[in-house]
Amino acid sequence: MADTLFLKSNDRDLQIAADIVRSDGTVIFPTETVYGLGANALSSLAVDKIFTAKGRPSDNPLIVHIHSLVQLSDLVSNIPDDAKKLMSAFWPGPLTIILKKSAQVPSNVTAGLDTVGIRMPSNPIAASFLKLSDIPIAAPSANLSGKPSPTEFKHCVEDMRGRVDAIIDGGTCDVGVESTVIDLSDKPIIFRPGDITKQQIEEVLNKHVEAVYEIKTDEKAKSPGLKYKHYSPNAAVVIMRGDITENSPAINSINERVGVLAFDEQIEEYKNQLNPDSVVLSLGSMSSPKEVEASLFSRLRDADEYGVKVVFAPEIQYTDEWMAVRNRLYRAAGNLIITAEEYKENYGECEI
Ligand code: TXA
Ligand code: MG
Repeated sequence: MADTLFLKSNDRDLQIAADIVRSDGTVIFPTETVYGLGANALSSLAVDKIFTAKGRPSDNPLIVHIHSLVQLSDLVSNIPDDAKKLMSAFWPGPLTIILKKSAQVPSNVTAGLDTVGIRMPSNPIAASFLKLSDIPIAAPSANLSGKPSPTEFKHCVEDMRGRVDAIIDGGTCDVGVESTVIDLSDKPIIFRPGDITKQQIEEVLNKHVEAVYEIKTDEKAKSPGLKYKHYSPNAAVVIMRGDITENSPAINSINERVGVLAFDEQIEEYKNQLNPDSVVLSLGSMSSPKEVEASLFSRLRDADEYGVKVVFAPEIQYTDEWMAVRNRLYRAAGNLIITAEEYKENYGECEI
């Protein structure tokens, strides 16, 4: 592939991007959640290029992005009442709704499933790009498979330069974690927590909704994306059990570069207790889950830029409003919740 074209978000550049996807090319575009790696959802040849560019396993289905409800008739066989309610409450916005697919949707988009995930993004650049293209666009997050999702143009360039036809620079994504995913093809189930919470969904549907966020490795994944280790920088990520006073002696004696993620309110205390060569990175305020959602993936990538070997991250409360942060961070850590002493004894100075 020739080198990747870097585009701005002006009308002329967005038209170039639209022309590329209309001729079965690949374009990375910003959304309010994370950047997406888009291609024509109705062309299996174009969709194959997404899997190749990302190095994504072909059993993990893609989300289809639209700009207008009119496009739904090409994509799904029927729209249940619950779906209509959620669309009117949350679209355009960070909610993906899984419905029974139409025959027109190629099977590589849905990884052979008979359902398809659909989302109407609210980011104005995404909306213009989708409108100019006027085709449904399949797009996973634009990271290399397994890496943290890209929330800035430079992350897309790092991962995807030379692997896609074009990247649109849309600045920093507001939300910072991927959309909430809900399956409405049968009994409602939330597969992925996001900025729109379970409670907000239950209020609109006026009933209890099940959530399946974590699976044990021997279970068959209902939503294939759940089973892959995800969101990891090159550094090992562990959730630090206990507070900084309990952990700082062990952290300070680790014989490799250490990164620590902390809430704004803790930064000073952490810096006082840790050796000056440890890298303390700020997640935002402990009273603002949205601020932490917006910074999380960027901080994980920063850890790699500082060349740290291990990142200690804080435990996150198991509550509705923190669920998206908890889910992403704990998956980056492969659910490893240990003290710095335990890390040192078991994993220090070797690969994990
Ligand atoms: O915010 C987002 O959703 C971003 C932006 C670009 O829109 N996209 C995104 O896509 O995060 P991706 O491919 O990284 O994550 C899609 C998730 C995966 O966990 C996948 O397994 C699940 O949605 N999914 C998609 N279609 C599905 C289906 N038919 N049934 C079950 N799960 C599905
Ligand atoms: Mg992804």
